[in-house]
Amino acid sequence: MSSNRQKSLLLLAGAAAAAGFVAVGYRTWHSSRKRTLLGQMRKRMLLDDSGLIEVRDDFCKQMVAGLNGETSSLLMIPSMVDIIPSGNERGRYLALDLGGTNFRCVYIKLGDGKGQIEDVKIEQCEIPEHHFTSPAADLFTFMAEKMVAFAKTLGFSRGHASERPVVGFCFSFPCQHISLNSGKLIRWTKKFNNPGAVGEDPVRMLEDAFDRIDFPVDVDCMVNDTVGVLAAARYLDSSVMIGMILGTGTNACYVEKIDNVRKLAQTPRRRRQTMIINIEWGAFTSKTLPRLEFDRDLDSSSANPGEMQLEKLTSGMYLGEVTRRILLQFAEQTGLFGGSVPELQTPGSLTTPDTSRIDHDSTFFGGPTGDILRSELGLSHWQTFWDRQLVRDIVRLVAQRSSQLIAAGIAALLRQMERDGTFGPMQRTVVAVDGGMFAHYRAFREELLSALERIMGAEAAHQIVLKHQQDGSSMGAVTMAGAAAGAPSQWRSEAGG
Ligand code: GLC
Repeated sequence: MSSNRQKSLLLLAGAAAAAGFVAVGYRTWHSSRKRTLLGQMRKRMLLDDSGLIEVRDDFCKQMVAGLNGETSSLLMIPSMVDIIPSGNERGRYLALDLGGTNFRCVYIKLGDGKGQIEDVKIEQCEIPEHHFTSPAADLFTFMAEKMVAFAKTLGFSRGHASERPVVGFCFSFPCQHISLNSGKLIRWTKKFNNPGAVGEDPVRMLEDAFDRIDFPVDVDCMVNDTVGVLAAARYLDSSVMIGMILGTGTNACYVEKIDNVRKLAQTPRRRRQTMIINIEWGAFTSKTLPRLEFDRDLDSSSANPGEMQLEKLTSGMYLGEVTRRILLQFAEQTGLFGGSVPELQTPGSLTTPDTSRIDHDSTFFGGPTGDILRSELGLSHWQTFWDRQLVRDIVRLVAQRSSQLIAAGIAALLRQMERDGTFGPMQRTVVAVDGGMFAHYRAFREELLSALERIMGAEAAHQIVLKHQQDGSSMGAVTMAGAAAGAPSQWRSEAGG
C-alpha cells in the first residue's frame, strides 16, 4: 500500500473516530440534561412523607371549615339524600346521567323480590362538541329528546299527572341542594360551560325541556355522581361509607354525622343522624399542592381558570394534557425529539387513555409507545429507545403525582370519619369507586394503593377496600328515582331537613 493511501486511510479513520466521539458526547450531554430535568421535576411534583401529611392535614382543616360554613375551597354540600334505596322498591324507572364526556339514558325494572332487578338498559349518547358551550336550554332539550326516543323503545308513553314517567337525574356538577329534587347550580366544571344555568335549578330546567317537547315527566331526585355510586353500592352492601369518582373529573362523598354539619344547624327537624356530604374535592385549593409552571399554564388556558385545582392535577380530563405540556418543555429545553416539535403544540392532542396505554407498555424497546406517539401526536421525528423510555417515565410521574394527591384526600376523609385508626382500632372501610381512570388505568390503581400505604401505613391501608362500582352513578340515580317515587311527596321536599 502506498504511503499516500495509508495516510488517507488514517485520516479517514481519525475523522470517523472524532465524529463518533462528538456524536456520543453530544448524545450523552443531551441525555444527561434530560435526566437532570426529569430528576428536578420528580422532586417538585412528588411529595415526600411530610409533604403528603401536609396535604392531608390541610384537606382535613378545609373539610371542617366547609362543614361549618366558613371559608374553604371544599364546598361540603349536604346532598339532602336521606332516603337510600332499600331493595323494597317496585316499578319501572328512568334516569338521565350527565357528567363526563357522554350522557346516558338509563332504565330499570324492579321486581317483587327484595332487591330484585328484572331488567336494566343503559344507552350511552355522545354529546356533540357544540353542546358543551351551547345555551343550557339547548343542551337540556337535546338530552330530553334522546331520552324520549329511548323511553319510547321501552314502551313508555306520554302520560298525564300521576302516570308521568319518573326520572332520576344524575347531574355531576356542584349544586346547592334545597331538597332532594331541587337546587341551584353553583358552577359548571370539566368541559361544560353552558350559559343560562349557573344559579338555576337543573331539575326545573330538565322538566321544562321535557315539557317543550311535549313529553312531561316527574324528575324526582337529583344526585351527584358520587352520591349515585354510594347509593348503588349501599343497595347491595349497607357498610359502604364512601362514594368516589375517578374519571373525567374527580370527587367523593361520604356519610357524615349530622351534628358535624354545623351549617345545617338552623334547619328545623331532622329524621336521621347522618347526611351524605358531597365534598366537591376537585375544587381543593391549597399551598401544599405541588403545582408547577405547566399546571399554571394549563389552568389559565382552561374553561375555568383559577378553579378546580386538585381536579386539574389528578383527573382523566387533564393528565394527558399535563403530559403533553411536560413533553413540550423537554423538547424545548433538552432537545427531546430533535427540539422543535410542532406536533406537540396542539392542546388536547394527547389524552389520558393514550398516556395510560403508554404506561401499560411493558415491552423492553417501547415499540407501542412509539406507535402511540406517531398515531396520536403525529410525531414524525425518529425516536430512540431512550426517548421512548423518557416518555414512559414522564407519563408515570404524572400518574404518581395524581395518585399521591388522591390518596391524601382519602386519608383525610377517613380521618374526618374517625376511621383511620387514630381514634381506635382501624376499621375496614369500603370505598365504592367508578370512573374510567379507576376502571381502565391499572398502573394508576397500583400507584394509588402504594401511596395509601405510604400515608397511612401498610396495616391501616390494607383495611381500605377500593371497590369498582360499575355504572354506579347511573344505577344509583335510577334506583334513587324508585326510592324517591315511593316516598311521600312532603318527604321529598323536606328531605334531609
Ligand atoms: C367534577 C364535578 C363533581 C363531580 C366530578 C366527577 O368535579 O364538579 O360534581 O362529582 O366532576 O364527575
